Amino acid sequence: MAQAMKIAIVDDERDMRQSISQWLALSGYDTETFGSAEDALKVLGSDYPGIVISDIKMPGMDGMQFLKKLMGTDSALPVIMITGHGDVPMAVEAMRVGAFDFLEKPFNPDRMSELAKRATGARRLVLDNRALRQELSDGNQLMKKLIGSSPVMERLKEDILDLGQADGHVLIDGETGTGKTLVAHALHAVGSRAGKKFVLVSCAGLEEDALSKRLFGPMMPEDAQLPAIEEARGGTLVLEDIDALSEAQQAKLLGVINEQGTPAETRIIAISNLQEAGRTCEDVLRPDLFYRLAALRVTVPPLRQRGEDILILFTRLSEQFSEEYGCEAPQVNAQEAAQLLQAPWPGNVRQLINIAERAVLQARRGSGTIASLLMSDHEEMQPVMTTEGKPLKEYVEAFERMLIDNTMRRHKGSIAGVMDELCLPRRTLNEKMAKYGLQRSEYL
Ligand SMILES: Nc1ncnc2c1ncn2[C@@H]1O[C@H](COP(=O)(O)OP(=O)(O)OP(=O)(O)O)[C@@H](O)[C@H]1O
Ligand SMILES: [Mg+2]
Repeated sequence: MAQAMKIAIVDDERDMRQSISQWLALSGYDTETFGSAEDALKVLGSDYPGIVISDIKMPGMDGMQFLKKLMGTDSALPVIMITGHGDVPMAVEAMRVGAFDFLEKPFNPDRMSELAKRATGARRLVLDNRALRQELSDGNQLMKKLIGSSPVMERLKEDILDLGQADGHVLIDGETGTGKTLVAHALHAVGSRAGKKFVLVSCAGLEEDALSKRLFGPMMPEDAQLPAIEEARGGTLVLEDIDALSEAQQAKLLGVINEQGTPAETRIIAISNLQEAGRTCEDVLRPDLFYRLAALRVTVPPLRQRGEDILILFTRLSEQFSEEYGCEAPQVNAQEAAQLLQAPWPGNVRQLINIAERAVLQARRGSGTIASLLMSDHEEMQPVMTTEGKPLKEYVEAFERMLIDNTMRRHKGSIAGVMDELCLPRRTLNEKMAKYGLQRSEYL
């Protein structure tokens, strides 16, 4: 149910403001009265969830000055001015300054109710629109945080925009550090629940009893928090490491989901990175719960599938860190770029953030190379990483492979498209694909 709109009544005459207030309160408005414009200004900001009715003739700041002040704060705040009987010039002036309308004394209560209804309706519309715009821009902000324009990332962003609007629960999976939590935030921010609660619970981070209590309660009187299920009501509840739920907890969660019916009041976003252990959520969760949670699915791709995004991310991140540390961003040469592209990135974006920060710190000290950082993270890369005696050819080949791989992805395996984009004859393209072990069938 929509909350009652407020009406601020400003009049230096006590009887007058009381009777207006009583009348409007009877019509269901949430009224508050002020004996002076100065007092009223203390509570009337640009986010005031209601309208203002004010007398024009008041000692101290008069109604006209008051109106000007309010219009300066929020020109969309409806202000109804009470004018003396027959004071046409004053009424005209009030309208010119931006009053919503005026009431002549002695006034007709029905006309007042009618005006209040129109003004509060207009106010609600303005506030709703503002909230919507704010939500959209928060959503945009978050989508912008998701750096990358590789085909897999473009696809992911489209999925987020689609699923953000949809109604079912969502299962997000992907390797560690790929951005699953960030995607959960984005899903919330681009959808209709944007202004509502966003509650995140890390299921693996709590002991079983503590987790049960955090999720479902009951809470003790001294607990500051509501159980997550209650706290997130109407909004989004994110359950990280969903596979850590015990059987009893799974059963309870299923009960909560079933009770909600469809469309669900609270959207549940479950996150899992079990894939890594070679298993899936499907193997671990009871099937009825799994199918409820996985109504919609998003898989966040590993960094190594994002091709040139790796370099874009590295550049952006190292620029951010250099700003933070007040030094120059490290320059990446072709060889280092190839190394970044070839690294296996088991820690994905989180690992890349870490490497970028260390690269900036190294550059500030004037020592070390990106290659040495990568090597310390990826021992298995050592052979590829030796910079001595490695011919340029090797790095060029890594680039070539990456380029063909990405172009194939973008063209979904269309040889003609790739030939065209890379200006390659068919035969050369076929030879290179064979050389790099790239199979057309994988891109279809
Ligand atoms: N596409 C991206 N662009 C920029 N930053 C990103 C991107 N993806 C992830 N990040 C950043 O990388 C870090 C790790 O992301 P996040 O915590 O969302 O990963 P995760 O998959 O939830 O990790 P875990 O499996 O450990 O829970 C965060 O700082 C996040 O802001
Ligand atoms: Mg996470």
